[in-house]
Amino acid sequence: MNKRFFMLTLVLMLSLFALAACGNDEENTSDNETSGEENQSENNEEASSDNGEINLYTGRHYETDQELYDTFTEETGIKVNVIKGGDDELIARIKREGEASPADLLMTADAGRLHRAKSQDLLQKADSEVINENIPSKLRDEDGQWVGLTKRARVIAYAKDRVNPEDIQTYMDLTKDQFQDKVLIRSSSNIYNQSLVASMIALDGEEKAEKWAKGIVDNMAREPKGGDRDQAKAVAAGEGDVAVMNTYYLGKLLKSEDEEEVKVGESLGVIFPNQDSTGAHVNISGIGLTASSKNKENAVKFIEFLTKEKAQKQFAEANYEYPANPDVAPSELLQSWGDFKEQDINLGKLGENNKDAVKIMNKVGWK
Ligand code: FE2
Repeated sequence: MNKRFFMLTLVLMLSLFALAACGNDEENTSDNETSGEENQSENNEEASSDNGEINLYTGRHYETDQELYDTFTEETGIKVNVIKGGDDELIARIKREGEASPADLLMTADAGRLHRAKSQDLLQKADSEVINENIPSKLRDEDGQWVGLTKRARVIAYAKDRVNPEDIQTYMDLTKDQFQDKVLIRSSSNIYNQSLVASMIALDGEEKAEKWAKGIVDNMAREPKGGDRDQAKAVAAGEGDVAVMNTYYLGKLLKSEDEEEVKVGESLGVIFPNQDSTGAHVNISGIGLTASSKNKENAVKFIEFLTKEKAQKQFAEANYEYPANPDVAPSELLQSWGDFKEQDINLGKLGENNKDAVKIMNKVGWK
């Protein structure tokens, strides 16, 4: 092979390799997966605008969600067209489509994302007594533009055979010397971690939030990679002792069809942090009425339906989440972890403080 051709081939191969690596990383650290690491987009569906049917853009990907939409259609005669995609992808799409957007509703897996849509003027107020009665105010936007439907706590999972849970009562305890090289947590590009830091800014101020983030970076068992379940698996494999993760991922492990995942779940204990102070960090999966909605009345009916007891139970249990409606009991598995104290902030703060949270994480070198 002549030398020049060899070099060209090498460069080409390296570029392809780099591209593939980027793709992988993106998938592994994707935040769009309430359903796991799934991040497919189904943007080719037709969505018409003004026939009374409602068009739901959603970042959730569950078959059980579809059953719920079907029940709504049976009860009301209103058809629900579902367009799936990543949270940010859907927000960008609604923005691009502008006033002509067929979207009536946007559903995402994080309050920060709903705030992002609101701050880009993509949502409007859904005026409804039913919604306000069913969902506590801290889980709703203060201007009524989005509402939480399911809750998840960001907790600490620990290796039952190596860690005494009494050593970790708070998020700050993860930064103790005792846990040097023992903490597993995903990257700073992950919205769940950004929202966790944003909540700390709201409750404890920027200085303390930065101290925490710095302490976490100092104690990391490895450079962040993978999703929440990968952190749990790394604890089970002995790469570290403690992992930060959302409750539903623990539920998914314990209820997995894969025996190995069940073993991982069973090897872990769960700690709801800050029970004597500010409470465990809670985020939501939620929904907003789009500013461009052509079927506002029916869209609001749909939100109301999702906040009622029957739907709440099914919606939350499908993904091992906590119902946002306090009249509805969580599943048996979640009840087995016990009641816990939640952070007492309006979840709009997660969006408001997002930029500052990202700034702090960058500053302390959280990759
Ligand atoms: Fe998730």
